[in-house]
Amino acid sequence: MSKRVLTTESGAPVADNQNSATAGVGGPLLLQDQHLLEKLARFNRERIPERVVHARGSGAYGFFEVTDDVTAFTKADFLNEIGKKTELFIRFSTVADSLGGADAVRDPRGFAVKFYTEEGNYDLVGNNTPVFFIKDPIKFPDFIHSQKRDPFTGKQEPDNVWDFWAHAPEATHQVTWLMGDRGIPASYRHMNGYGSHTYQWTNEAGEAFFVKYHFKTNQGVRSLSADQAAELVGKDANSHQTDLLQAIERGVNPSWTLYVQIMPAAEAANYRFNPFDLTKVWPHADYPLQRVGRLVLDRNPDNVFAEVEQAAFSPNNFVPGIGPSPDKMLQGRLFAYADAHRYRLGVNHTQLPVNAPKAAVADNYGRDGFMATRNGSRHDKNYEPNSYSGPAQTDAALSAPLAISGWTGTHEAPLHVKDDDFFQAGELYRLMSEDEKKRLVANIAGGLSQVSREDVIEKNLAHFHAADPDYGKRVEEAVRALRED
Ligand code: HEM
Repeated sequence: MSKRVLTTESGAPVADNQNSATAGVGGPLLLQDQHLLEKLARFNRERIPERVVHARGSGAYGFFEVTDDVTAFTKADFLNEIGKKTELFIRFSTVADSLGGADAVRDPRGFAVKFYTEEGNYDLVGNNTPVFFIKDPIKFPDFIHSQKRDPFTGKQEPDNVWDFWAHAPEATHQVTWLMGDRGIPASYRHMNGYGSHTYQWTNEAGEAFFVKYHFKTNQGVRSLSADQAAELVGKDANSHQTDLLQAIERGVNPSWTLYVQIMPAAEAANYRFNPFDLTKVWPHADYPLQRVGRLVLDRNPDNVFAEVEQAAFSPNNFVPGIGPSPDKMLQGRLFAYADAHRYRLGVNHTQLPVNAPKAAVADNYGRDGFMATRNGSRHDKNYEPNSYSGPAQTDAALSAPLAISGWTGTHEAPLHVKDDDFFQAGELYRLMSEDEKKRLVANIAGGLSQVSREDVIEKNLAHFHAADPDYGKRVEEAVRALRED
């Protein structure tokens, strides 16, 4: 086999990769040393902006296989036949810390799936939690600022974390979830994934349904206690990455079973909870889980930067038969992601191999921009309509229309009969075993007792009291005991 030749970026052979060129032995460097200049300059440009949230993550390829007939509810092509397989890429992540952060921390986990369907890429960008902290996207930047590193101290501050929650009673449900046993997954393989939001499915007849997605792990849910996690972080800060990478390399392919809850569109208006409120679940007794298929991960990316760091998921990437609901949070996300990608990766990020459609062809009149690689040929017009053979619209509705009424304005989300900020948090607490309750209370008290201001502590305690009197009493006692220490 002929030896590979080291070259410059333009392909010219490199004569010496150990010594830079100098003016005489021991003299200063020569500006003409192209290899040195290029090497140093390129190195300076290796980093791109990290994701503003979910910066730290791990990715893998796999497939989705349909196991059950859901054609009565959606016309989505990739779900239209039992046994149909669709290639996919997944990225799991932590949320709050920066790129170098540790994996085994108390934080929600991202669960972002890109299905490479024959009707284009479908991105389902979820978390390992069925609910979220807030229900209006206008609060998202403030929320994230309060959870990430403080601009002065350079670290996460309990004062900021709990001050935000003091002003966000709607977060009580998700805070209860996060501080509970599932708050630190043992690995990405041992957690469930949720679409969290309500989405809309439309069938061939044009009938609309609202759905919630649940990916149940087939590895079993396993979590770490605060102490176990602290120990693991010290031993292997990359524990989730190590676990996922090694499992797939060993051929132990992790899998999840996808279920959906399905609500006929007409039931949404009178459901006891606002079905578009991201801080609420739909109890399974109201809308049972219906199986759809299985998701299997079977291949590691060859290059973390190219395929994982440059992966770009957008909740706005739908396929016919699947669309958004009026959930305000989801609506905000429909803008935020592709905008983030244009900033982080550039306008042509959709042409990168991990992001480009694989089973469909992107064919449109978008042109140019930095790093364009798919830009049309001499046979392609760059405008539409045209008299030539360019791509044209289908005239087929992607999803069913939504009925709307009322006045424009900065409205709060409408409350349904059973809606308040605390009922479901209390239900979650009451579901827990005595041991789970003890750990939950200890975790909350561990953080809340570090807050410097009494009024912030009081406001948070009021939320736990409102969720369940026993819950509030125990958290209050635990916080007081720790503060007296
Ligand atoms: C209005 C609320 C939200 C806004 C504005 C928002 C915005 C963002 C932004 C800007 C990114 C970085 C994207 C990138 O640079 O590639 C991101 C990442 C992410 N977000 Fe959100 N987010 C919101 C709520 C949520 C919710 C409710 C979920 C889950 C249900 C979620 C799941 C994720 C995941 C999984 C990622 C990482 C995707 C990846 O692996 O590349 N986000 N979000």
